Amino acid sequence: MTAPLLEVQHLTKRFGGLTAVSDVTFDVQPGEILGILGPNGAGKTTLFNLLTGFIRPDSGRVAFAGHDLTRCSPTQVVNLGVARTFQLCRPFVGMSVLENALVPCYSPRGAGTRENPHARALQMLEHVGLTQQRDLPAELLSYGDQRRLEIARALATDPKILLLDEPFAGLGSSEIEPLSALIQTLHQKRGLTIVIIEHKLRAFMRLVQRIVALDFGEMIAIGDAQAIVRDPKVIDAYIGKSEAAIATA
Ligand SMILES: Nc1ncnc2c1ncn2[C@@H]1O[C@H](COP(=O)(O)OP(=O)(O)OP(=O)(O)O)[C@@H](O)[C@H]1O
Ligand SMILES: [Mg+2]
Repeated sequence: MTAPLLEVQHLTKRFGGLTAVSDVTFDVQPGEILGILGPNGAGKTTLFNLLTGFIRPDSGRVAFAGHDLTRCSPTQVVNLGVARTFQLCRPFVGMSVLENALVPCYSPRGAGTRENPHARALQMLEHVGLTQQRDLPAELLSYGDQRRLEIARALATDPKILLLDEPFAGLGSSEIEPLSALIQTLHQKRGLTIVIIEHKLRAFMRLVQRIVALDFGEMIAIGDAQAIVRDPKVIDAYIGKSEAAIATA
């Protein structure tokens, strides 16, 4: 087994009396797509916030490619090669799609690629299929295209790992399919390691190789994706029998 790219050890975060993430330990292997599953409030987004320096853990440790991320700021985390998208899209309002994609091209990692930032931003829009929309105000994009812009902005920082928080939320099946194909392409052609939180099980199961299942902040299961969605603990906590049948179909 190769050395893990991301190591999460005994991570715990409390908000007052609520333990949102409780003693969570797992690894992400280079080149894999790892899924994070769990009901609303299970601690999935809090976990991403801990991994990316948006909040500090009460205890535990996060290491990425030999660096200790535990006390890093979000900017330091991005500069080490960890990029994320957010559950709610927030493009820079009043700026065009291209201008939105340009901002991260000036980050140290984005600029470090030595490409002209403008050319790089255009290239990122091309990767995600937004070339035609480049001059539109970003807030006028459809929800699916705002998701694509989020991914373009994340890619512009030249990440080694991409954390996606519910990329299919709010999308219909006609938008989920092509976005899922884009995520596959990023994984296969760019060799990106990906961690994805998603409730849309059918699309999720086509992407992920392993799953970490959370419930009330605790890790209730980890392992091969097909085995996890058949795990009685996971079915009871989250999936339900009929959904499990869809996920394993
Ligand atoms: N900043 C905060 N202050 C207080 N409580 C918080 C904070 N952030 C999250 N929580 C609580 O922590 C728990 C986990 O929330 P989190 O957003 O991580 O869940 P989630 O698994 O992402 O859920 P969803 O599927 O609905 O997005 C919830 O009970 C939430 O209310
Ligand atoms: Mg969430």
